[in-house]
Amino acid sequence: MPEWKTIIEPFKIKMVEPLGFTTKKERADLLKKAHYNLFQITADKVLIDLLTDSGTSAMSSEQWACLMRGDESYAGARSWYVFEKAVKDLTGYRFVLPAHQGRAAERIFMSVLCGPGKTVIANTHFDTTRANVEAAGSVALDLPVKEAFNFSSMAPFKGNIDIAALKKSVSEIGPQNVPMIIMTVTNNSLGGPPVSLANLKEASKVARQNNIPLIIDAARFAENAFLIKLREKGQAHRPVFEIAQEMFSLADGCLMSAKKDAFANMGGFLAFNNSDWLKKSKELLILGEGFPTYGGLAGRDLEAIAQGLKEIVDENYLSYRLRSVAYLAEGLKKHKAPIINPPGGHAIYVDAKRFLSHIPPHQFPAQALVCELYLTGGIRSVEVGSLMFGRGKARDFKPAKMELVRLALPRRVYTQSHVDFIIEVFGHLVGRKKSIRGLEIIEEPKTLRHFTAKLKPVGADR
Ligand code: F0G
Repeated sequence: MPEWKTIIEPFKIKMVEPLGFTTKKERADLLKKAHYNLFQITADKVLIDLLTDSGTSAMSSEQWACLMRGDESYAGARSWYVFEKAVKDLTGYRFVLPAHQGRAAERIFMSVLCGPGKTVIANTHFDTTRANVEAAGSVALDLPVKEAFNFSSMAPFKGNIDIAALKKSVSEIGPQNVPMIIMTVTNNSLGGPPVSLANLKEASKVARQNNIPLIIDAARFAENAFLIKLREKGQAHRPVFEIAQEMFSLADGCLMSAKKDAFANMGGFLAFNNSDWLKKSKELLILGEGFPTYGGLAGRDLEAIAQGLKEIVDENYLSYRLRSVAYLAEGLKKHKAPIINPPGGHAIYVDAKRFLSHIPPHQFPAQALVCELYLTGGIRSVEVGSLMFGRGKARDFKPAKMELVRLALPRRVYTQSHVDFIIEVFGHLVGRKKSIRGLEIIEEPKTLRHFTAKLKPVGADR
């Protein structure tokens, strides 16, 4: 097939939902009322919602049919066996436990394996993973490769773990004090880059030599597997499903949020081979989530996730998905908007530190850009910078390592013309970016301030 320029969405649209059109004047008022915090804006006032790719997918007609087929029996529902089989076929693990979302799986698993005096090592923990490791009394240590912080480098696998640093840390901390090594695929907190199969193999070797379980955070496993197919030597001929199976075979278990690469609006699971973990996890599951054949999910959700896990490895879908993300990247680059290169599978991350270099970190350049994108085009994105992470232990201001704006693309929701619109909005911003003002906090909660903090433009009354 020739390389067509036009991205063909590999679906036709059966059901539509109107977008939230507003005028610029309305958006200016809404922003002010929301205290320049986009989490406080109601979704019907958003034109294009790029806040997250989590739980925001469009389900297929087959998934909707699954909802009708769902068996809602409390114990041993037919839908449970459909779900269990889909997860086992993909991962190869013996035991599967459902949970209502990724962080519930994390909470159960960390409670079983972690504890005081232990250190969990990861290529990078996602926020909720880190929070659950810490809540269980352990330390979360990130060992990403150095090139992950060089945004212009085109290194193909910036999601990798630093193997030399991993070996060094394991021997310094002592393998008995490392309850698990986590590989997050793709590495969401560092711009969504993939992990290579070679790196997974090396991490697996280190883990096995030291008798440490290797666990995959599989939220975006299919995007990672497809990026392996596209970027790693010797992988181009392999089916994505087979690459994914190999990824899971290198680990001892996985935790998954089904809200990403399973096209589900809710759900998650744990899967592994260890019967001792099963016994302990089941007890916690029943305590907090529900009976082990539904675990916080309706039978219909279990069916829809099982179907989603099959659809996500369709390579026509994955080509469209990655082409859409790359297309957005190309469009932003045309407008000289600096982004993290090369783009991964689920989002584009704009480097606001460079784009709005006139705004210092304590005036939240990435949040200023988030607000401006909304004001100009009704686009909702999310800040991953000093508003989210810029606080020291004494709750004083401490600039974050990066000032990013994440534009996450929900799966199968927006078309190429929506992406063209996003690019056009950036085009409008570029010429007048120097006029964009920084923000200051007027009120903030004790923790996770980005969700509820109130801000105002620097120098404004309110
Ligand atoms: N792991 C990764 C890599 C994630 O990106 C997320 C969620 C989770 C675990 C937790 O899963 O939300 O089902 O409890 N990421 C969302 C995001 C929230 O917007 O990136 P969950």
